[in-house]
Amino acid sequence: MKTVIYYFTGTGNTLAAARALATELGDTKLIPLRRAMYYGALAPKADAVGIAFPVHFLDMPVIVRQFVFNILFDGRPYVFGLATCGERPGGALYRLKELLEEKTYTLSAGFSLVMPGNYIGPVDLMGDARRRDEKYAAVQARIPEIASAIRAREILLPEGNNSGLLKIGGQISRKLATSMYNTPKRLHATEACNRCGICSRICPTRNITVSNDAVIFDGDCTQCYACIHWCPKEAIEIGGRTKGKRRYHHPDVTIKDMLEQRGE
Ligand SMILES: Cc1cc2nc3c(=O)[nH]c(=O)nc-3n(C[C@H](O)[C@H](O)[C@H](O)COP(=O)(O)O)c2cc1C
Ligand code: SF4
Ligand code: SF4
Repeated sequence: MKTVIYYFTGTGNTLAAARALATELGDTKLIPLRRAMYYGALAPKADAVGIAFPVHFLDMPVIVRQFVFNILFDGRPYVFGLATCGERPGGALYRLKELLEEKTYTLSAGFSLVMPGNYIGPVDLMGDARRRDEKYAAVQARIPEIASAIRAREILLPEGNNSGLLKIGGQISRKLATSMYNTPKRLHATEACNRCGICSRICPTRNITVSNDAVIFDGDCTQCYACIHWCPKEAIEIGGRTKGKRRYHHPDVTIKDMLEQRGE
């Protein structure tokens, strides 16, 4: 097989981008990294391997770090990153490069794509329909260029910004969201919940249990926001801060795709 792209997605942006790239490249297999992240997991033999993920706090999501930490490549493929973000990728692809280097692998190129923001809380950066369409169109327009760089095995610096200031900014905002605001603890289902169980089935970390009486969120949340955005009743909130905020998912991605990511 020529190319394998591992992907992680919360609201479908990264999956849609990875799919478009796979179609453009041809002979490419998409694998949910959620299903290949046990220690010592061996990637299938491929000439090129992509790692596609959303930017979280100007960095990689924790679950993607865990995947990279555990994965072993078969041989020395050309490795590239594909990061989707709302506006700014920060040093996310640089962190991927560093993590791979710790394992003696090389990140040969890292591409970032700006897509609708799925972070809702104090701010809503999703944009109106026109802005979202502009972003989707810009991604489609850029995919052939990215594919041709990958085909040519170009060696490129990761896109984004590796400044120390942004790194600290990302760490502070992650800390604010995780420890001080305590997102995992404040996740809860409101009375709008009808116990359909979708949140529990799509959560990538199996952090949610739904019973007849309650929806219980445990402490292992990677802050992907999938449960919040995919709940058909819009019943999942983080404290009061997501209340009344719009929900989002990429228009070409479905709940079935999200279940596929979990291996359901
Ligand atoms: C917890 C969290 C943190 C985020 N941090 C950033 C960020 O630092 N910079 C940015 O441009 N977008 C940020 N975003 C927005 C996502 O990176 C963007 O919407 C991405 O395309 C979502 O991809 P997905 O649908 O595959 O999950 C963040 C989203 C979440 C949920
Ligand atoms: S997805 Fe929403 S409605 Fe369904 S069980 Fe979860 S919180 Fe309740
Ligand atoms: S609890 Fe929700 S936000 Fe946290 S990892 Fe699961 S789906 Fe993502």
